Amino acid sequence: MASSELIAKAAATHDLGRDELIALLEDESCNETLFAAADDTRRRYVGEGIHLRALIEFSNICRNNCCYCGLRRDNQNMIRYRMKTDEIIALAEYAARNRGFKTVVLQAGEDLFFTVDKMCEIIRGIKQFDVALTLSIGEKSAAEYQAYRAAGADRFLLRIETTDRNLYHRLDPGMSWQNRRQCLADIAAAGLETGSGVMVGLPGQTIASLADDILFFKEINADMIGIGPFIPHPDTPLKNTTGGTLEMSLKVMALTRLLLPDINIPATTAMETLAPNGQTKALQAGANVIMPNITLAQYRQHYELYPGKSETNCAADETLQILQDKITAIGRYIAADKGFRHKKSGKVFRL
Ligand code: 5AD
Ligand code: SF4
Repeated sequence: MASSELIAKAAATHDLGRDELIALLEDESCNETLFAAADDTRRRYVGEGIHLRALIEFSNICRNNCCYCGLRRDNQNMIRYRMKTDEIIALAEYAARNRGFKTVVLQAGEDLFFTVDKMCEIIRGIKQFDVALTLSIGEKSAAEYQAYRAAGADRFLLRIETTDRNLYHRLDPGMSWQNRRQCLADIAAAGLETGSGVMVGLPGQTIASLADDILFFKEINADMIGIGPFIPHPDTPLKNTTGGTLEMSLKVMALTRLLLPDINIPATTAMETLAPNGQTKALQAGANVIMPNITLAQYRQHYELYPGKSETNCAADETLQILQDKITAIGRYIAADKGFRHKKSGKVFRL
């Protein structure tokens, strides 16, 4: 089948096989058609509203040693910080009350200082402000995910990073791909909206494994999927590798929109870091969410997952105005609701 026919099929049925995904990922001449189809599917299923999620990076301390990430445990070249409980809650209050955000996202490295009790205290503190609350704090037990939900958390983000099990084990020493998958099942079972995602352009990653990534998102029936290019960090073992491209990241994202038409998909910060119009391109190729970073600059500068990140997508007053202008310029608007997924497809993920 020609690429244009495959794209038409995906737009009509939201279903493609592995070989069909590979063919589209390999064909560079179909990119614009693919992006337009994903944009159209996004409009039909989730509309023109863009959901803003206020991101707070509350600790850059991490027990893991992921080879791609600047926060990895062995990186001594990084000043570590941990925000205080009341600082985190106060910043969330500011986001909700003063800036009108409908969702707060709490992200950190896997910092064991934040026990389940401490996290639940923070969750309860923030949930007073009538916002949806997303956590992105790594691998926990099923009981912990349940406790976060009981305390009021609404969503949880845990990228699978890559579905290529061997590549995962090479890049995430000491971690288990099987456990990560289990965590995603536990998150969904706890009643949290479940987010995952991958990096594109990891060293050794193949087109076929990107196709598998997209099929995995469908298999787990994810509610949110974040996709971004891998950007090499100079203080990591992958410093001399090439990294991913914006174009391929957009393709994986667009295909994800076609196969999971009703989910929430952010225009990721890594896309904007690679190109100044990366975010706008993403919003016109399937994305419907932006996560402005509201972490104070004194901390944000140290949350360096990859170089160039800390200047991107931050949410000082004037930056938010620029964002608002960008959104208006492409005929979209900032959504007024909390932006939960309104499921129009799929079933519950169980292992
Ligand atoms: N380039 C791009 N994304 C990265 N992440 C971590 N390190 C990098 C990097 N060097 C992503 C991972 C993680 C998310 C918080 O940031 O996918 O899940
Ligand atoms: Fe830690 Fe996450 Fe970075 Fe891995 S990707 S080192 S778990 S912060």
